[in-house]
Amino acid sequence: MTMLSLLRRFLPPFRNKAIVGTICKVVEVIFDLLTPMIVARMIDAGVAAHDMALVVRLGALLVLLAVVGYGFTFVCQRLAATVSQGMGTDIRNALYAKVGELGAADLDRFGTPSLVTRVTNDVNQVQVAIAMGIRMLIRWPFIAIGSIVAAMSIDLRLGAVLAVCAVSIALVFWVVMSRSIPLFRAIQEKLDGISRIARENLEGVRVVRAFGREEHEDERFVSASRDQADTSIAVGKLSALLNPSTYLIMNLGVVAILWAGSVRIDAGSLTQGEVIAFVNYMTQVLVSIGYVANLVVVFTRGSASATRIMEVLNTSPEVAEASDAVELPAAPAPGTPALSFENVSFTYGGQSAALGNVSFALAPGETLGIIGGTGSGKSTLSALCTRLYDPTQGIIRVNGVDIRHARLDSLRKTVSSVPQRASLLSGTIRSNLSWRKLEASDDELWQALATAQAQDFVREKEGGLDAPVEAGGVNFSGGQRQRLTIARALVGSPQVIVLDDAASALDYATDARLRHALKELSDRPTTVVISQRVAAVMGSDQILVLDHGQMAGLGTHDELVRTCPIYREICLSQLKAEEVDN
Ligand SMILES: Nc1ncnc2c1ncn2[C@@H]1O[C@H](COP(=O)(O)OP(=O)(O)OP(=O)(O)O)[C@@H](O)[C@H]1O
Ligand SMILES: [Mg+2]
Repeated sequence: MTMLSLLRRFLPPFRNKAIVGTICKVVEVIFDLLTPMIVARMIDAGVAAHDMALVVRLGALLVLLAVVGYGFTFVCQRLAATVSQGMGTDIRNALYAKVGELGAADLDRFGTPSLVTRVTNDVNQVQVAIAMGIRMLIRWPFIAIGSIVAAMSIDLRLGAVLAVCAVSIALVFWVVMSRSIPLFRAIQEKLDGISRIARENLEGVRVVRAFGREEHEDERFVSASRDQADTSIAVGKLSALLNPSTYLIMNLGVVAILWAGSVRIDAGSLTQGEVIAFVNYMTQVLVSIGYVANLVVVFTRGSASATRIMEVLNTSPEVAEASDAVELPAAPAPGTPALSFENVSFTYGGQSAALGNVSFALAPGETLGIIGGTGSGKSTLSALCTRLYDPTQGIIRVNGVDIRHARLDSLRKTVSSVPQRASLLSGTIRSNLSWRKLEASDDELWQALATAQAQDFVREKEGGLDAPVEAGGVNFSGGQRQRLTIARALVGSPQVIVLDDAASALDYATDARLRHALKELSDRPTTVVISQRVAAVMGSDQILVLDHGQMAGLGTHDELVRTCPIYREICLSQLKAEEVDN
């Protein structure tokens, strides 16, 4: 079913090629079916009557059929490859584009490893199914049916032998296939498992090494591989039954035909040529049963993969742009906050609320500090600001507009965020900094770097702005990475900037200089600073204290020290008592 909807969506550009390919296959099949008939005539009318001229003519016809048939086969294979590869590419691109549109919640649900397998392996399975479909789906059923009809038209009674053989072979295939198909699925899942372990290990290779866990991880990998190998071997043993039993049944059938046929030839009701033709047709029928069974396997796998692909393609992104989305105003109307949360709650599917009933309002240029224990919902709040998720309840406004009604590009231009995990992509410093504004000038980039306190180390790197960045930014220290991602967020002068624990790896002095530089910016952005450090938030215009997703306090440092016990406690744990109380 899903295979059909996949075809409906991706086949149209290749429809003509698929049709021509299939027609070529039909011609090839007709030629194959004619061949035994011609051989029969050669034997009966040519060899038996010693008519050499006829034998040569028919022989030439056979050669001609073979050559022309080969031409059609060639065209068909070529078209099948073009169609399946072309469709595969289109499907892969569509999947990739879709993954880019999906919201964070959708991505959480599928999981990265599964998305990777879907884009690679599942698309391959579908490609194989399509190519096999064009090349085999017409061929083998047609050959089977055509051969049965041709054989029956030669002699009905010999047909009984054919029927018995066909049913026995079909039975053998049925038994083997019904056992192997579940194993095929298991193999697929075990492959997923192996790639998950490999992936985890490659990503965490330093940690694994640092903790001396190599041996443990090796074992984990080896046992997963062995498990997969065992299942594959079990499938192999089952399939190993197929060929010997098929040939045994087939050859017994041939013996039976020759024996029964010879009696009829003696009686004069059959010719030698007819018996040979019958044997040929029977062989074709029996061989095609094997191919049809293989097709069943390919299509079973292909349709399982098609389901996994369509699952992704049919996901409508949770965070989508409304059709009547508007451009955010360049500045809020007088008296309207630049960023406000109105009774915002958020729950990650099913669990208890990660954020409950959070409200605050920031005037343009104001700074909000957010502090709270680990897991208190700080990063969740930051993700809501750029609509990585939409609130379960409540409204978030930027410049007075509910961000669900804002165009996504406009929102992301206005609001810039620095995620807690600094992530850089392979490229250069410049390519990493200009994400928000592709045409940013060198001056602009250096200015952002200066504010982010990243100027010095970038200047020291060979190549400066064009210094290479390795995948994941591994050629930079944690603190350098953080400062680069802060600089990236500053490029293009966002009106609102959200820093999620973005300076956690900086020493106190650098952190203080960063905060000072942010304050000194000419068009000072409205800023949300999330941190575990009191020092980083105490100077903010307002401070929001989060505790298990709930607002434990909102106010200035002085107010909170007096009124909010949780805040006071955090302060006492990090500052000297006299600093807290004056
Ligand atoms: N993608 C997710 N799926 C499900 N639950 C999540 C997800 N991200 C966070 N949570 C849960 O939501 C709660 C709040 O997490 P959040 O990341 O916002 O905390 P945090 O305050 O940023 O913590 P930290 O200081 O450690 O960064 C936690 O209980 C966490 O388990
Ligand atoms: Mg966090």
